Amino acid sequence: MDQYIIMGGKPLVGEVVIEGAKNAALGILAGAIMADEPVLIENIPDVNDVNVLLEAIQGIGAIVDRIDSHKVRINGATINSVYVDYEYIKKIRGSYYLLGALLGKFKEAQVALPGGCNIGSRPIDQHKKGFEALGAVVKIEHGGIINARADELVGNHIYLDVVSVGATINIMLVASRAKGKTIIENAAKEPHIVDVANFLNSMGANIKGAGTDVIRIKGVDSLHGSDYSIIPDQIEAGTFMLAAAATKGDVLIKNVIPKHLDAITAKLVEIGCEVEEFDDAVRVVAKKRLGHTNVKTLPYPGFPTDMQPQIATLLALSEGTSVVTESIFENRFKYVDELARMGADIKVEGNMAVINGVEKLMGAAVSSPDLRAGAALVIAGLVAEGVTILDQIEYIERGYERFHEKLASLGASMEKININDERAIKKFKLRVS
Ligand code: EPZ
Repeated sequence: MDQYIIMGGKPLVGEVVIEGAKNAALGILAGAIMADEPVLIENIPDVNDVNVLLEAIQGIGAIVDRIDSHKVRINGATINSVYVDYEYIKKIRGSYYLLGALLGKFKEAQVALPGGCNIGSRPIDQHKKGFEALGAVVKIEHGGIINARADELVGNHIYLDVVSVGATINIMLVASRAKGKTIIENAAKEPHIVDVANFLNSMGANIKGAGTDVIRIKGVDSLHGSDYSIIPDQIEAGTFMLAAAATKGDVLIKNVIPKHLDAITAKLVEIGCEVEEFDDAVRVVAKKRLGHTNVKTLPYPGFPTDMQPQIATLLALSEGTSVVTESIFENRFKYVDELARMGADIKVEGNMAVINGVEKLMGAAVSSPDLRAGAALVIAGLVAEGVTILDQIEYIERGYERFHEKLASLGASMEKININDERAIKKFKLRVS
């Protein structure tokens, strides 16, 4: 078990390159098995969620050739099982995209039911509704295995009761091989939905309207090989934008699609940051103490829920009172108690956090409750006075590649050490004091 150790107070200055989008990669890697030919995927992020999904894909018999940390060739021709073991699902929910890919390709799939998660119950009723609308019989069997099978997959008109990224992607995967037309209404519009649709179309699928709330799909008889490169990660980029702002730094964040960052940029400008946009980069500069604002998380193009802990941390240091409302997940404020131990003044009432900005935070020993909350606590450590030791960083490494190395290259005093390695902690404190 590893920890991050951070000495706060250093502004982040310099350039950082953003990796491929984790939440696009998971849908795309699953979709790649639907061809019986090699599919080359580039710009995959080297993060644990992706690596576990590739193990799961190998586990069902597909050929997985990891060319390098950001490139993989997958060939689904040799798949010999439609059963995805719980060991993969318990590690990452994203494995459940294999349900849609296998059902679409083989008309059957058995995938362990994903557990709840630290941010909410996260049911999959909308996935099930979509699969059944396309002709599948979906049963939850003993031991929490989802068993989906269909004699025939036929297109249908599906209205999602909630805007769901996962359900939209899983239904697209199945509908791409169903006979006839499928319409998905109230579809999610995130950039990674568009990326998965573009990827499937590069394999010969016929999907139109991704990125709007109505997606139209004409099923095809087969999907062929493709070479595809994944879009940059909107959330990794946003996390570095907020880290630059919180530390009163000056950072050029490269390999981004600025349009995908509009909601984050708007909030940063509103509270007094300078954000300069280039074709594939954004520069964030903050020179003075930032102001307060109110944030409500919404499906894209609204403010992303995956940026909620990070902006709450930034506002914990801003002047005045801010309110952050989490409208997507029911339990995404678990990091607030950890921030309070660093001196933040935040009161959570239901799905709202009322944040009274403080002048400074104090370094402390804190724990990451989940992936994005962990990233937020790193931001808190970067600005806190003194040393912060953050454990359970395996959550963070699920979604951020070389996070501590990238931050250190921007001037952060931050290292990854083995848990409770007193010697390493002493050495670090000596070096930074
Ligand atoms: C994806 O999760 C992302 N994960 C999440 O990112 C992200 O927070 C979320 O979308 C929202 O953008 C991946 O892409 C792997 P949803 P997903 O289905 O698909 C409810 C991260 O940090 N819902 O859009 O599971 C659900 O409970 C992770 O990278 C149903 O009620 O999210 C939630 O309240 C965390 N029934 C809301 O919809 C369903 O069948 C949105 O969930 C499905 C979802």
